[in-house]
Amino acid sequence: MPARPSAHDAAFYITTPIFYVNDVPHIGHAYTEVATDVLARWHRQRGDDTWFLTGTDEHGQKILRTAVANDTSPQAWADALVESAWKPLLETIDISNDDFIRTTEERHEQAVTIFLQKLYDDGHIYSGEYEGYYCVGCEEYKQLDDLMETADGDYAGQLVCKIHSRPVEILKEKNYFFRMSAFEQQLLDLYENRPDFVQPASVRNEIVQFVKQGLADLSISRSSFDWGIKVPWDDSHVVYVWFDALLNYVTAVGYGADDEQFERRWPAVHIVGKDIARFHAVIWPAMLLAAGLDVPKAVFGHGWLLVGGEKMSKSKLTGIAPNEITDTFGSDAFRYYFLSAITFGQDGSFSWEDLSARYQSELANGFGNLASRVIAMVTKYFDGAVPTTTLDEAIVTIEKRVTDAAGAAIDAFAIDKALATIWELVDALNLYITEQQPWVLAKDEADRDRLAQVLATAVHGIGTLAILLAPVLPKTTTKLWAALGGDGTVDQQPIDTAWQWKGTSAVTPLVSSLFPRIESSE
Ligand code: ME8
Ligand code: MG
Repeated sequence: MPARPSAHDAAFYITTPIFYVNDVPHIGHAYTEVATDVLARWHRQRGDDTWFLTGTDEHGQKILRTAVANDTSPQAWADALVESAWKPLLETIDISNDDFIRTTEERHEQAVTIFLQKLYDDGHIYSGEYEGYYCVGCEEYKQLDDLMETADGDYAGQLVCKIHSRPVEILKEKNYFFRMSAFEQQLLDLYENRPDFVQPASVRNEIVQFVKQGLADLSISRSSFDWGIKVPWDDSHVVYVWFDALLNYVTAVGYGADDEQFERRWPAVHIVGKDIARFHAVIWPAMLLAAGLDVPKAVFGHGWLLVGGEKMSKSKLTGIAPNEITDTFGSDAFRYYFLSAITFGQDGSFSWEDLSARYQSELANGFGNLASRVIAMVTKYFDGAVPTTTLDEAIVTIEKRVTDAAGAAIDAFAIDKALATIWELVDALNLYITEQQPWVLAKDEADRDRLAQVLATAVHGIGTLAILLAPVLPKTTTKLWAALGGDGTVDQQPIDTAWQWKGTSAVTPLVSSLFPRIESSE
């Protein structure tokens, strides 16, 4: 664990979805992890009392069927996938989560039972019968709007889910129902009174339209299979997998077990893909309202990584493994690429060409070379001692503007915009070096003071960049901070006042390039 700045009042609890363990992760899951990680690291570096949760969703029919198809038990399947794939993913892309929850853990199952019993005792649950179309991929009953009839392919003439392109099944069961319809008006008021509750606007609009059409009650138990948490008052039923899964966000921070921790952490900011925004922005707040708990601070539904215009997916086998990218480019470049190349909140496509081009121009040439050139010049002209002098106001002004604007962009979940803003400082410093030509100033003793000022200013600007980029490029900025001779670790430097860091007295040359040349594989 990296050392953390001391806790301050503002609590910041942030989560990713908990992922299904039916298969291994692809870069879509990694994208959610990385975005959430950057927000968590940013808030830690602000001094907020930050908590970052991720984990896995292990119950339900999808996992059960996968295990059966692989001749194993669902628990053994989940254990194997968590250990061999989902936890290692976090190392591959340098995720700084504080906790990892699995829905098969005792702490979760117990707290789900407490929550459900409370809703039952308070009259929010009744028994009824349901018949409808069910998509096992989504683990959700579907309305006709969510389905389409396929004209060709394996499923010609059948109704398939628009997300999974697989046929739905007709299910008829006696189930327990959550009286979700009772919360329709409260939800509409919530969206109205807190326009930031669901973001971005495109997702918010879709959610508001959906709820305005009228909210049905929700089937929350299943009796045709038993891979799930038992309904406390009727053990012939297991809890519906989404009802179980959504509760991870409170069970992981002490709901029903540790009131002090729960008070300290809850409510959370949920980062999810837009495919599951409805569960998080409709069902989840309705569940919380029923239990008398605070609704989340915000639900942000980001866009999809597309392959051939469709959502990259496990079920369609279009996934790219994150380590295919990190093995060549490293985890920092992975993190930077997806967060800078795709507008957070919109869909985007991945391409090797685009990744290579941005790695070369933005990371290696733009940022990496700038840092190594400046450090090399301080070494060459001043023996590594950073001159003590006033800084160039023009650059300090940009450092301040960029620091403020990047923080504001992060508060608006505009991660791509924060990076674009920080790159204004990269560009400004590169231009500054090009225009000031320190190598020319170095030729004339009369220019010694000006040379000192230019290099001290450049070192200061690079330090500010290191502080601002630490959440996105943790490995690179750690190396850079050591070369700059900064105090403590880079992730301990207050990010809201990055431009005011005090500077250093001596630099040491970088032992290797921050972004090494990538040999093309052809
Ligand atoms: O839905 N582009 O799990 P899941 C971007 N267990 N993000 C993508 C993506 C893509 N192509 N594909 C997947 C579930 N994701 C439930 C969640 S939460 C209480 C329960 C990411 O394994 C994105 O975050 O299907 C999406 O919402 C999530 O993976 C779905 O993961
Ligand atoms: Mg899915």
